[in-house]
Amino acid sequence: MILKDRVAVVTGAGSGIGQAGAAIMAREGAHVIVVDRSRKAAEATVGAIAAKGGSAEALPLDVTDDVALSDGIADILYRHGGIDILHNHAGAQVAGDLEGVEVAGFDRSWSLNVRAHFMAARLVMPSMKAAGSGVIVNTSSSSGVLYDREMIAYTTTKHAVIAMTRQMAGDYAKYGIRVNALCPGWVDTPFNEPFIAQMGGRSAIEAYIREKVPLGRWASVDEIAESILFLVSDRSSYMTGQILVVDGGETVV
Ligand SMILES: NC(=O)c1ccc[n+]([C@@H]2O[C@H](COP(=O)([O-])OP(=O)(O)OC[C@H]3O[C@@H](n4cnc5c(N)ncnc54)[C@H](O)[C@@H]3O)[C@@H](O)[C@H]2O)c1
Repeated sequence: MILKDRVAVVTGAGSGIGQAGAAIMAREGAHVIVVDRSRKAAEATVGAIAAKGGSAEALPLDVTDDVALSDGIADILYRHGGIDILHNHAGAQVAGDLEGVEVAGFDRSWSLNVRAHFMAARLVMPSMKAAGSGVIVNTSSSSGVLYDREMIAYTTTKHAVIAMTRQMAGDYAKYGIRVNALCPGWVDTPFNEPFIAQMGGRSAIEAYIREKVPLGRWASVDEIAESILFLVSDRSSYMTGQILVVDGGETVV
């Protein structure tokens, strides 16, 4: 077990990639705090982890609520004495080009995709500094390194996640803290529903992926979880400020 006794916080872990990341960390011996705005989803992830003999607890909150996030992290620090791993994963896709996107949707994207990562990292940093170690992974996207058709709120925020990751990594390496960004490509989770609707339905997205992704298929959440495990474990111990793109080759072409 490569994460034995580490305390890991994963946001957006009630579904999809975050859930698979939480499960793989628990499989490797971490105690995982499953953060999700849906209590039911968070508890389902905890139940699935417990059923396999892992250790986890649910922390139902909206990560854009500063007070709830701050109280939740303070409580984890009080009860567990520290946080070794923070995976800032919760994020949203809001469709639209410059003129089409709702301004409120742009603001919502910023607050969830960027500001909530910033706040959570800021809240865990004093304890990681005191420990002289810690790992933060911020979920960006292949859209953080690519143009994405008529998705200005999403690409802007996901590019910003990469800038923020590099900045945090440079500033905190001297404390033994590593910060990297994860850029998944197409993963079949409920998250993509706005883009699928914008494209005109399921068959359009399937055709798009066959054509645009050199491997010609979606990633599974378990394939992305393997990359998360690499980033949060000592297997990436000399890696900080980097962008791990896991996209079936989409960004190659
Ligand atoms: N699925 C993809 O193709 C893909 C590709 C690249 C990047 N991503 C990134 O992955 C993340 C989404 O993960 P997923 O695809 O597994 O999605 P998902 O929809 O399966 O899961 C997202 C989870 O986040 C939770 N959540 C949403 N807003 C929240 C909030 N404000 N506070 C707390 N929890 C919240 C939801 O309740 C849900 O359980 C986003 O950051 C997204 O940018 C996804």
